[in-house]
Amino acid sequence: MAGYDCIKIPDNYEGYSLDMFCIPKHYENDVESILIPKGLITDRIERLARNICCDVGKGPLVGLCVLKGGYQFFGDLMDRIRTINASGENSVQMSVDFIRLKSYEDDHSSGEVKIIGSDDLSSLTGKYFIFKQDIVDTGATMKKLLNTLTKFKPASIKVASLLVKRTPRSTGYRPDYIGFEIPDKFVVGYALDYNEYFRDLNHICIISETGKKNLLFLHL
Ligand code: HPA
Ligand code: MG
Repeated sequence: MAGYDCIKIPDNYEGYSLDMFCIPKHYENDVESILIPKGLITDRIERLARNICCDVGKGPLVGLCVLKGGYQFFGDLMDRIRTINASGENSVQMSVDFIRLKSYEDDHSSGEVKIIGSDDLSSLTGKYFIFKQDIVDTGATMKKLLNTLTKFKPASIKVASLLVKRTPRSTGYRPDYIGFEIPDKFVVGYALDYNEYFRDLNHICIISETGKKNLLFLHL
């Protein structure tokens, strides 16, 4: 694979005004602007699905969803891959698994993360993995996860992340498939949360200072 480019949203881009799209009333004061409207996310995912299908050939492909934030991206990307499978000459055999990650809190030097939620990842040996991740921020977790997963000896591991944040804290890690590269701001919506809020917001939005304060202690 040659390596794909992605849509780069510049640092000085302020996004769309809230009046231009529909925002749930309960979030009106908690977001500043709309960075990526749902329609654009959908269209970008369509192309990511095509790139993935072209690269994987016939598979078999294991789609691995990192919960919770990745569920919406995972579902929509799987949907597009299913559509391509149904209509094209070339189809990819695909299975799915879902994981959650737990950091080893006392041991920062281990370079691994604990994977919880999946029954048996050893059955994935020899297959093509593709990870669906909502956002890569510093990249530290993803690096550890890849480290942990190579133990299962998959034929290949690729990572698809809807968003990558441009941040000075980055480890330099870059996923294989990226939807959008975004400024160093805290974003919510499309399953990305702030203290478990905003997963029910369609568009990817920049959180407001009021939102950060309002929803700081109000855990669901
Ligand atoms: N939004 C939501 N979750 C996150 C972010 C973000 O900007 N960065 C890391 N986790
Ligand atoms: Mg979160």
